[in-house]
Amino acid sequence: MNIDVNGTPMRARSLFTEVQIRARVTQLSQEINRTYPPDEVLVVLMVLHGALLFTADLVRGLAMPTVIESVRLKSYQGTQSTGRVDIVGDTLPASLAGCHVLVVEDIIDTGRSMETLLAHLEGAGAKSVRIATLLDKPEAHEVDIKADFIGFSIGRNFVIGYGLDLDGRYRNLPYVAELIKT
Ligand code: IMP
Ligand code: MG
Repeated sequence: MNIDVNGTPMRARSLFTEVQIRARVTQLSQEINRTYPPDEVLVVLMVLHGALLFTADLVRGLAMPTVIESVRLKSYQGTQSTGRVDIVGDTLPASLAGCHVLVVEDIIDTGRSMETLLAHLEGAGAKSVRIATLLDKPEAHEVDIKADFIGFSIGRNFVIGYGLDLDGRYRNLPYVAELIKT
């Protein structure tokens, strides 16, 4: 698939297929099941919109009583991080006190989104806070953030699909593709 990024022609090259993603997400659900007590509530805090598809698949494999909450962060324009992260609407779910919270993210790039969200969560009184991310770009980290559950580690190329967008588009692709200059 060819994509125009601000006048630069790019090619979307498949990085992880639907089958590879399904297999890895199943493994992650099992890892999460082994980490938490089976009878305690887990609040899955989905970071919108990127983690929508990942969360929907991940929670199907969870064995403990699970609550799904969401928060919306925004930091990207086009393929460049703006360096500033906002919690859209400036609200966290009210019901996190005493709960295990699992933040579910699509990708960790600079790490600033997760840093900002973790700082907001500090006062919420959660019993534990962990991070599950589908993708991690370790070479791009600018702050010291380590996810507890990582689907795949990748290089610096911009990726789309399975929830990940380019200015709001391509989230619906069932696979993950990287953008390559043509
Ligand atoms: P960070 O704050 O730099 O770690 O960026 C995290 C957010 O930027 C993610 O939640 C994504 O929404 C977005 N992002 C980072 N890299 C990519 C990418 O390669 N494709 C699509 N979105 C990305
Ligand atoms: Mg995101």
